[in-house]
Amino acid sequence: MGILFKNGTVITASDMVQADVLVEGEVVTLIGKNIDAGGHEVVNCKGKYLLPGGIDVHTHLELPFGGTVSNDDFDSGHKAAAFGGTTAHIDFVIQPKGGSFHDGLRTWREKARPAQIDYGFHMAVTDLRPEVMDEIPSLVDEGVTSLKLFMAYKNVFQIDDTTLFKTMQKAAENGMIVMVHAENGDVEATLTPSLLAAGKTDPKWHAASRPPEIEGEATNRAVMMSGLTGCPLYVVHMTCEPAIEALRRGRAQGYPVMGESCTQYFFLTAEKHLGAPGFEGAKYVCSPPIRTPHDHKVLWQAVRDGTLQAVSTDHCNFWFEGGKGPWREWAQANNGSNWVAYEQQDPSYRRPGKELGMGNFAKIPNGMPGLEERMMVMWEHGVNQGRISPMRFVELMCTNPAKIFGMYPKKGTIAVGSDADIAVWDPNKRHTLSVSNTHMRTDYIVYEGWKVKGKPVQVYLRGKKIVDGDQWLGCNGDGQFVPRKPYAPVL
Ligand code: URP
Ligand code: ZN
Ligand code: ZN
Repeated sequence: MGILFKNGTVITASDMVQADVLVEGEVVTLIGKNIDAGGHEVVNCKGKYLLPGGIDVHTHLELPFGGTVSNDDFDSGHKAAAFGGTTAHIDFVIQPKGGSFHDGLRTWREKARPAQIDYGFHMAVTDLRPEVMDEIPSLVDEGVTSLKLFMAYKNVFQIDDTTLFKTMQKAAENGMIVMVHAENGDVEATLTPSLLAAGKTDPKWHAASRPPEIEGEATNRAVMMSGLTGCPLYVVHMTCEPAIEALRRGRAQGYPVMGESCTQYFFLTAEKHLGAPGFEGAKYVCSPPIRTPHDHKVLWQAVRDGTLQAVSTDHCNFWFEGGKGPWREWAQANNGSNWVAYEQQDPSYRRPGKELGMGNFAKIPNGMPGLEERMMVMWEHGVNQGRISPMRFVELMCTNPAKIFGMYPKKGTIAVGSDADIAVWDPNKRHTLSVSNTHMRTDYIVYEGWKVKGKPVQVYLRGKKIVDGDQWLGCNGDGQFVPRKPYAPVL
């Protein structure tokens, strides 16, 4: 016996059609008109849309960063994602300095034990020693086909151009894709101390320390190296005109370059949000920084004209007020070789958060929550407000992420043979986004009070219902690692 989704409208990247969908076991087995109910469990989808489960290819769950650890883990983050219609994500494993890729993978596999939705891993290269370079091909055997390099965060994650170039050469040989956080970290590390020395310590100065030019310059550098090496490039969290223009030029040259932006960069501004009174602006500190209404327009145009291929979240949330918990903590062993989990025993311990940067914007942990809201916010402001079609929405949120990162057609679409990851989407359901109803482990959200129309009312992961209205039906361990294929298409 299977599950028959009846009378709904199926939306894929190419079509929007009224059809029934039969799911047997974990996959879709039939799509058509008037499929016979014959003993199947029937889900009446009249007036509803059937969307492929969302895929967020940019998350940081339980990331040790900025002197603390990001709050959501592979339990809380997964539930929140699913309540927002996302059924798979790709998280960034960080190669421990002095350690190997496989050390990092071991840590992230441990983190992912409680998984409730499907997930994959990118590998962030932090320390490319010759023996680590030799490890790259073995990552493909592990289903990890994307390498990430940070061109910023000097003395933390930042790599140099030699590392970027050599990684691209090796990745190209092995059918992998390289991702970059594109900001010139050397310039940022020069601007920041002079701002602080001039007494410019409030959160709003974060934006001045990372101007659009440093994002444009780094994006252009990575795009050119992609052209030179032939290595597919995916620029993460793009925010501004100089960066988008660099990507557009590269694509016009025929280079294999692609890019994403993240939900927050379409809406929030440095002036209003980073510049909020008191320390409130710290909630919105992320890198690159949120920008201006003009940049919002540039980003919408780029998703419309195909310059950008995907929208993700960069979900990396830290307490605003500090504390709650304690949760499992992570520390780096003395020899620096790997991250080690430990239970924080001190009952008075409060995990630090944004307050670490009071009086010094450079010490505010970078990142914000958003995993749960991505689909609802982009539907409201993209589809409902006529900026993109429902099909383009599916392409940006589900299909392109799956294609670019080697998960298609298992993930990212509703088709015969694909995993039955389905969001039953009610286009008429109204919802007010609030920290009081979020499932993310956070004490604030950046879309507080925003009203949306259109929301997932039921969510299925490989044929199992995991969300039913407000009810959570998933289980720890339901989520599976998705091994990804090399030589994915360049879009
Ligand atoms: O501010 C951000 N973006 N935090 C997460 C780490 C990164 O750079 O993606
Ligand atoms: Zn980044
Ligand atoms: Zn990130």
